[in-house]
Amino acid sequence: MPDEIKPNELDPYWMPFTANRAFKRAPRMVVGAEGMHYLTPDGRRVIDATSGLYCVNAGHGRRRIVEAIQRQAATLDYAPAFQFGHPGAFHLASRIALLAPADLDRVFFASSGSEAVDTALKIALAYWRARGEGGRTRFIGRERGYHGVGFGGISVGGMVNNRRAFGAILPAVDHLRTTYDRDKQAFSVGEPEWGAELADELERLIAFHDASTIAAVIVEPVAGSTGCLPPPKGYLERLRAITSAHGIPLIFDEVITAFGRLGYAFAAERYGVVPDMIAFAKGVTNGAVPMSGVVVRTGIYDALMQGAEHIAPEARPLHEVELFHGYTNSGHPLAAAAALAALDVYRDEDLFARARELEAGFAARMMSLRTSPHVVDIRPVGLMCGIDLTSRPGAPGARGAEITARAFHEHDMYVRVAGDTIVVAPPLIASGDDLDSIRDRLTLTLAAVA
Ligand SMILES: Cc1ncc(COP(=O)(O)O)c(C=O)c1O
Repeated sequence: MPDEIKPNELDPYWMPFTANRAFKRAPRMVVGAEGMHYLTPDGRRVIDATSGLYCVNAGHGRRRIVEAIQRQAATLDYAPAFQFGHPGAFHLASRIALLAPADLDRVFFASSGSEAVDTALKIALAYWRARGEGGRTRFIGRERGYHGVGFGGISVGGMVNNRRAFGAILPAVDHLRTTYDRDKQAFSVGEPEWGAELADELERLIAFHDASTIAAVIVEPVAGSTGCLPPPKGYLERLRAITSAHGIPLIFDEVITAFGRLGYAFAAERYGVVPDMIAFAKGVTNGAVPMSGVVVRTGIYDALMQGAEHIAPEARPLHEVELFHGYTNSGHPLAAAAALAALDVYRDEDLFARARELEAGFAARMMSLRTSPHVVDIRPVGLMCGIDLTSRPGAPGARGAEITARAFHEHDMYVRVAGDTIVVAPPLIASGDDLDSIRDRLTLTLAAVA
């Protein structure tokens, strides 16, 4: 192994969401990537069954994206994000607005999904203040939701491990029940038939807290990081009907689902449900440069431009900053260039349609794992699938950790595991052979795991 790709010590890097001690004993390193594969320091080609972390929708190392980043770095490496602009961010906002449904036409940029979520929550708070209803500060999330790791995100999120270690979270938050019930939904292909009525719980929470205290409801259309939970048929429509009836903004966290994972630019389109804000990240640049953002309905933007209702718009001084929020890297030139190139690739290769075409074959391959050891549920939707395994008694997550290691070291496959759930989400460029290969490697890995 050449020296430059062999770190001489592993201790200084505190790895995120990683069992650091286990990793540092038996590292899983990648040094290159191309198409459907990662390359390891010892020259193995490892198939990428989870698109990195659900980002690399067009596959790795796409020339068009690489060259756009290189050109941009050589032309305008950084532009101040506050009070100055550069064309790329404006072009990109227009392109995203065109892809987003209905009047979701205003785009705020950040760099991570967590920032996008916190941005959406803060926009909701500021919107109500601007409307003269500053008492609306409560958020409603959902059990098993994942909205990143900011204080806002862990507060509205519903993954217990992500909250447990951090006592101080936002106080005015409540959660809907998870949409998952194995007894009623196990081995459903796509959106399960049972569970739309779970949305009605929102009526109860609204009655309990009173609509006048609620700033927004936030959900992932398909809960991703918890292990891929597709929404029951009709569930999102009901959430929308209830939030609309009470005038409460609905935020879709589409950090995973946007840009093709479910066969459309946004899950909102797949489900025919128009939220008030959409948080996106990951696939917007095909993972090549960190970028995220929030697409917002024009009316929310306008309310913030106008300011509190008691101020006549014309009386509002022009120099006044309308929203005291933003990041040094909002709309970063390299990220914007990468995103514009990624959107070109998605469009020119019709990759969202390709995901729709692959969906049934992908689901069939995943469902064939039903007879593998330890498997208790399989949930394919779009090009994404959760596979639940039984946990070892007294050792939740141990079997999943073994899957991660065996898949990589013994079967040349990278696949994401959350606890004892495998999440498969291949790049949308996957061929039938690639999907076969992922299925076969999963079969072998599952057979080998104790
Ligand atoms: C739905 C959702 N929201 C937010 C995030 C957080 O994104 P990031 O890790 O970029 O902060 C994720 C990450 O997986 C996600 O899946």
